Amino acid sequence: MADKKNLRTPIVCVMGHVDHGKTTLLDKIRGTAIVSGEAGAITQHIGATEVPIDVIINKLGDPRLRDRFIVPGLLFIDTPGHHAFTTLRSRGGALADLAIVVVDINEGFKPQTYESLQILKRFKTPFVVVANKIDRIGGWVSQKDLPFAATFKKQSEDVQARLETKLYEVIGELYNQGFAAERYDRVTNFQKTLGVVPVSAMTGEGIPDVLMVLLGLAQKFLEANLHYSAKGPGVGTVLEVKEEKGLGATLDVILYDGTLKKGDTVVIGSLGKPIQTKVRALLKPRELSEMRYESKFKQVNKVTAAAGVKISAPGLEGALAGSPIRVATEETLDEIAAQVKSEIDEVRIDTGSVGIMIKADTLGSLEALVHEFQKDDVPIRKAEVGDISHRDAIEASTVEDPLYSVVIGFNVKVHPDARDFLQESTVKVFTSDVIYRLVEDYQKYVKEQQE
Ligand code: GTP
Ligand code: MG
Repeated sequence: MADKKNLRTPIVCVMGHVDHGKTTLLDKIRGTAIVSGEAGAITQHIGATEVPIDVIINKLGDPRLRDRFIVPGLLFIDTPGHHAFTTLRSRGGALADLAIVVVDINEGFKPQTYESLQILKRFKTPFVVVANKIDRIGGWVSQKDLPFAATFKKQSEDVQARLETKLYEVIGELYNQGFAAERYDRVTNFQKTLGVVPVSAMTGEGIPDVLMVLLGLAQKFLEANLHYSAKGPGVGTVLEVKEEKGLGATLDVILYDGTLKKGDTVVIGSLGKPIQTKVRALLKPRELSEMRYESKFKQVNKVTAAAGVKISAPGLEGALAGSPIRVATEETLDEIAAQVKSEIDEVRIDTGSVGIMIKADTLGSLEALVHEFQKDDVPIRKAEVGDISHRDAIEASTVEDPLYSVVIGFNVKVHPDARDFLQESTVKVFTSDVIYRLVEDYQKYVKEQQE
């Protein structure tokens, strides 16, 4: 077994449809820790929250569990919608080690629920499904923070039956998506069957159960991925490029391997040559509050994986969201720059031949889109990160075949001059913030054209 001290924290991405309760779920995990006087133990990162194993064990209420887990804790990542997952990429794969898919048990599956499942299936990421908002089931009597079994027992037979009905609708949907699933306490093998945990992120019911299932998955993950370490040169992914008052362009980064220090030379992917710069400051949120709503940072001298951190350095303007960031030394600089460049080039396409054009907000979403269209054997002329520009519009208009005189935009803007041009042209533009919708819309368009 690897040295326990150097095991890195597994990264857990919280996914699901808008408003289904992702943030509330994390707030609850955090909030109960504050109530029980453990707030200091929980570390806030850029776009992430780290919950140490002791806090989790405490919530499970059985100290004997302590020895069963070698995981140092869990790093939860929450960004709106499901975008974090595709942005948080690493070469050839997903960065998140585990995921939680939150679905409102009363609303059922929505576009981004399907999308989350497709992404997880593609990357073979282990995950747990949280059937949230059980407190909204008619007649439900809330039992604050109780484990699911305990609160379920206290409900009337009618209410129990109502929950089971809704739960099996969720399980049925999962089956339709190709997943064998079951209420988590009825699962005997979590490698074969997905666990679905009924939860109220609002009242805390079922939260201990979610943590328990996650720890089980994390343990399995770690056994298979012990090569990740908190030592060695830092490797991470750019979550976001952000303008900060007084700092200029900064990077929100999730570090997933090794250590990153102030003063380190780093290489970052950009549209052109990789950026080489020196870390001027490493910034963390000041206290227990979500980074995204916080404008004041504190400086730290180093961070170790897994962690979220804001990087301030000269020359970050052209950095690409979703691209790698790697620590280099004088000796390794050229080699690492070449590796970063080739990783970016693997995702981008610029053939100049006949085919559609794809524009996306991050390298990860671009990668996912290219994969989906290539799967359908759709030729791609160009695939690039960025808004739809006037130049893109002109380029697309030079393609004569209407099937390919097409621009696909994922989570990007259409520049005003491009919009004017496109209105006058025959170029077909599809924009959406749901990947599979773009694929479906395009398929529909092709069918119409062929009729
Ligand atoms: P986005 O970040 O916009 O994608 O949404 P989200 O998934 O983070 O949802 P969020 O946690 O913001 O919750 C959306 C709304 O649902 C809020 O008004 C929450 O208070 C409410 N909510 C979340 N969980 C529960 C729950 O378990 N029960 C009830 N009754 N309401 C909940
Ligand atoms: Mg949210």
